[in-house]
Amino acid sequence: MSVHVQNTRMTTARLRQMKQNGEKIAMLTAYDFTLANLVDESGIDILLVGDSGSNVVCGNQYTLPITVDEMIFLTKGVVRAAKHSLVVCDMPFGSYQVSEEDAMRNAVRILKESGCDAVKLEGGETILPQIKHMVQAGIPVMGHLGLTPQSVNQFGGYGLRAKEKAEADKLLHDAKLLDEAGCFSIVLEKIPAELAKQVTKAVSCPVIGIGAGSECDGQVLVLHDMLGLNQGFQPKFLRRFAELGEQVKLAVGSYITAVKEQSFPNSEESY
Ligand code: KIV
Repeated sequence: MSVHVQNTRMTTARLRQMKQNGEKIAMLTAYDFTLANLVDESGIDILLVGDSGSNVVCGNQYTLPITVDEMIFLTKGVVRAAKHSLVVCDMPFGSYQVSEEDAMRNAVRILKESGCDAVKLEGGETILPQIKHMVQAGIPVMGHLGLTPQSVNQFGGYGLRAKEKAEADKLLHDAKLLDEAGCFSIVLEKIPAELAKQVTKAVSCPVIGIGAGSECDGQVLVLHDMLGLNQGFQPKFLRRFAELGEQVKLAVGSYITAVKEQSFPNSEESY
């Protein structure tokens, strides 16, 4: 299927319009220039420089260790590649929880130094003052509810969230608060599809799901997971659209053999 690639840059206003028109929003993560360039040219709407870069790029077990400096470094490459898509940078753990002032200072740094379009923060009511402050200062903010990986130590793992009524009611309440505070979009991660549908209907901003069923306004996946580069990870919600991990191993294996048996480089590949 061919995808129509917009000639103009994606905006938060256009994303809202897409929700109103029932046009689905496609978002993927990216952490470097080369892959971001391919994904942007393929017509993606939003590129998220996720703090999942802590796992995917840095090899950490959790998202918690990645720093503001490291997020800025990764985001710069993605911004240079993005011709059409809106670039969102995750605010890492510890960069917005301490105080409103600290959160603003870090958000401003991220926008100024990386050149991204927006930031994403995990959490609801407890971080509302920070979100309101940023929105008032003209910073586009994406919310993130449900399974928020920065709280893994509190959750005790990466299981499905909001199965029970109390947590589901709280999530719906938080989503409405984020919407009223001016978030341009909200990510819902690993929650029951029925609850995600309810939230999507209840808020005016676009809702992007990951493991949250088909009724959200859009979907997001971690690029390396959906390309099959991260071979050990196979949660139920993840569809692999390619098996690039196998392709990489085959190509590298062929290269090693060619070097060892001295068939590479041949005379045409030499000066
Ligand atoms: O960091 C990340 O990749 C994310 C997505 C899973 C939404 O937050």
